[in-house]
Amino acid sequence: MTWVIIGLVVLAVVAALALFRQRDNKLATGSLAGDLTPTEADRARVIKDRSELEGSSFESAALEARATELAPPKPTGAAVYIPPDEQALGESRRQFLNRGIIASFSFGVGVLGIGAIQTLWPSGGGGFGSKIVVGKVDNIVQSIRDAGGFFYVPQGRMWITEYPSNALVKAESDYSFYSQVNQGLEAGVVALFQTCPHLGCRVPECSTSQWFECPCHGSQYNRVGEKKGGPAPRGMDRFPMEVSSDGVLSVDTGTIIQGPAIGVNTTGQEAEGPNCQSAEGEHG
Ligand code: FES
Repeated sequence: MTWVIIGLVVLAVVAALALFRQRDNKLATGSLAGDLTPTEADRARVIKDRSELEGSSFESAALEARATELAPPKPTGAAVYIPPDEQALGESRRQFLNRGIIASFSFGVGVLGIGAIQTLWPSGGGGFGSKIVVGKVDNIVQSIRDAGGFFYVPQGRMWITEYPSNALVKAESDYSFYSQVNQGLEAGVVALFQTCPHLGCRVPECSTSQWFECPCHGSQYNRVGEKKGGPAPRGMDRFPMEVSSDGVLSVDTGTIIQGPAIGVNTTGQEAEGPNCQSAEGEHG
């Protein structure tokens, strides 16, 4: 968004430069300051007073008056031509303005382009759609327990819960995607996409049952995202996990793994208390 605003500002500067240049050209063309037509007073000055002239003097004066009438009009003192400003018309200034406008316009278009690409392109800076380094597994497990069994990571739109070590053998046989998540599961955690695979609502945790229970149509999932009830077509979707040699968990939120099929139940966890939603529209 910031890039788009910067781009609009630059385009506004370009428009202002173009207007400024148009105004300069008008000033540089010059103008006439008054009327060039000789007045009767001008002609009257040629013959000061005919009545005072006689003979050859009168004839000379008449010829002079005739010549004055035929001659092209001379500008009076009020008809002064203001020449154009040579500097304003100078080639170097026009080039400077033209290049400035082109450079500014190109810059503005470039900034807008970068902003558009950044808006449309998946984020590579640690947000949803990228690989997110969540932290040390030991610290994550502690955070899960401190939060009552469910640790939410907003930038990844995911829940992280504990995965019991005694369920690993079953997971290896029942999860078709095991090789994408095994590092996390073997370290003791699972990363689940928050979006319900039924119709896309955000699925919250239920602290009493210790399940996930969707408020939209009542789909229920156990703590590791395996379907327990409701209309959902599968278990909760999830993300590939990697654990580094020093125990740091990374989750690839750019790859969504479809949840386990209905009936997969690797942990055998039953509701540990009252449900938050009733499982209506059960599909099996
Ligand atoms: S969207 Fe969750 S049950 Fe329908």
